[in-house]
Amino acid sequence: MSSVDLLVERFRAQFGGRPDLISRAPGRVDLIGAHVDYNDGVVLPAAITRYSWVAARARPDSVVNVLSLDWNEQGSFDLTNLEKKVDQNGRPLPEWALYAAGVAWALTQQEISLPGCDLAVTGDVPVGAGMSSSASVEVAYALAWLAMASTTIPPMQLAQVCQHAENAYVGVNSGLMDQFSSVFGKEDHALLLDCRSLDWEALPLGSNVALVVADTGTRRTLTTAHYNTRREECELAVRSLQTVMPGITALRDVSAEAFAAHAEVIPIPARQRAQHVIEEIARVEQAADALRQGDTARLGHLMDESHISSRDLYEASGPALDTMWEVSKGHPARLGGRFLGAGWAGCLIFFVDAAGAEDFAAATAGRYKKATGQEAKVYLIRAAQGAQILESDH
Ligand code: GLA
Repeated sequence: MSSVDLLVERFRAQFGGRPDLISRAPGRVDLIGAHVDYNDGVVLPAAITRYSWVAARARPDSVVNVLSLDWNEQGSFDLTNLEKKVDQNGRPLPEWALYAAGVAWALTQQEISLPGCDLAVTGDVPVGAGMSSSASVEVAYALAWLAMASTTIPPMQLAQVCQHAENAYVGVNSGLMDQFSSVFGKEDHALLLDCRSLDWEALPLGSNVALVVADTGTRRTLTTAHYNTRREECELAVRSLQTVMPGITALRDVSAEAFAAHAEVIPIPARQRAQHVIEEIARVEQAADALRQGDTARLGHLMDESHISSRDLYEASGPALDTMWEVSKGHPARLGGRFLGAGWAGCLIFFVDAAGAEDFAAATAGRYKKATGQEAKVYLIRAAQGAQILESDH
């Protein structure tokens, strides 16, 4: 049974009758641009053929009932009481339900009037693995709610509303990359986003290369704390540099030359974090050029450099990620690779010659098993279309 059929069946069993609509929003892989989106940098992600789905039906009152197939739990909250983050009985909302409530809260902040509803949610984006399950579920909820409210907002605003839900309601101080990717995804394309101007461009990936995800099976814990700490370290680096470069507002404004001249004003470890960000932004620009020129070897090499810098300077990798990255080396089809998303655990993305991609996936899983004794899922993935309403009675 497909995920959508199962979702409709469980919706029917829980709430009776059919949903009014089904929305679908993809996860993403970030080819390069680690931890630069919240430094006003440029990033190069792609939406992928892994999704969150939401089945929704409006209610005549302000109650929201949510059934999560993946957590096997249900919850209820009221749209008139979103600030408190509690359920109908006054108990704190479980984390999985904060995404629905947070999106409702952020849309309401845009003066959009929302109906209560019955919702069922499921997904095949692995949670805590670096592929943006959070953003995909936020975007799927937001699209469903906008459709139920019979309104639309510009797509960039949709991405920003979902980011605001994540930052201000769920409490992760993330950048815009993930929600942007889920909204703007384009089949077989990567997306180059300037996180300052919000200008973006879709770049074809080319048919001679393939994307391979390597899932170490490890999952992030305590990521919110780690992630928010890194963000604070970047802000400290900016404040330190402002003492000698008063015009800057973000690490985006600091050239390699200026960093070399003034780095010592930044305390350790914020100095290493800043060095990573400044060099990584330059790498993303070079990666976009490489993609435009069809120089896949160069792009792969830049991804490897990104992994090394994220590991050594940003200290955002982890043992399983580093082992997978090491064992992947040496295969003739491998162009390059790095860990996905925030890091610490989860998945890597490899850029691979299409002809040898299946062999690379099997060989890498085998080598990982040999090195660690652990099974890893290593599989091909395609760049996908952004979020959409799949079925609607409206
Ligand atoms: C997470 C965040 C993104 C981005 C990446 C790191 O995925 O949600 O905004 O900061 O980490 O590049």
